[in-house]
Amino acid sequence: MAFELPPLPYPKDAFGELISAETFDYHHGKHHNAYVTKANELVNADPALQGKSLVELINQTAASGPKGLFNQVGQIWNHNFYWLSLSPEKKEPTGELLNLINEAFGSVDALLEKLKAEAVGHFASGWAALILKDGKLAVTSYHDADCPVAHGDTPLFILDVWEHAYYVDYRNARPNYAEALLKDAVNWDFVAQNLDGQGAERANQQW
Ligand code: FE2
Repeated sequence: MAFELPPLPYPKDAFGELISAETFDYHHGKHHNAYVTKANELVNADPALQGKSLVELINQTAASGPKGLFNQVGQIWNHNFYWLSLSPEKKEPTGELLNLINEAFGSVDALLEKLKAEAVGHFASGWAALILKDGKLAVTSYHDADCPVAHGDTPLFILDVWEHAYYVDYRNARPNYAEALLKDAVNWDFVAQNLDGQGAERANQQW
């Protein structure tokens, strides 16, 4: 058994200039794939780790390590969830999700501003996220390979703010990347689906 690189849920040229095919070649084909390869090496080397899911390994290693394995499985889960968080087709939040957004932030635009500020203000590598906490929406971020699963947070949406996510298309301009994707590439259907609390499972994989 082994973890596998999941296929992208859309063609790699589906986003046009918003996210280029070259970015997907590197980000999905090289970076995400490298986390999968490395995680499999580590799990293959230790029979006690075998047969477990990403979520199980994240929870097992989050507090007490080994940090090397946590980083790999955290990054596989984060990237699985990130690809699902994006859509090449522009969508809008509706229904219960829209009500929760208005209740927590006042408007969709205010939520997007808060997510952008979180993404831009996050120092160095990591992930900006929208989560459900105590029945309310909240914006937060995670450093490096850390992920919502490791904190028991209910994930709704995440945005990769590692440089490898934007350097090909936006060079060093993280604010432009965050603004462009938040405006036109959020898969609001996926965000709404995750209100059922099953988001962690949607990016999970069995070894
Ligand atoms: Fe990434």
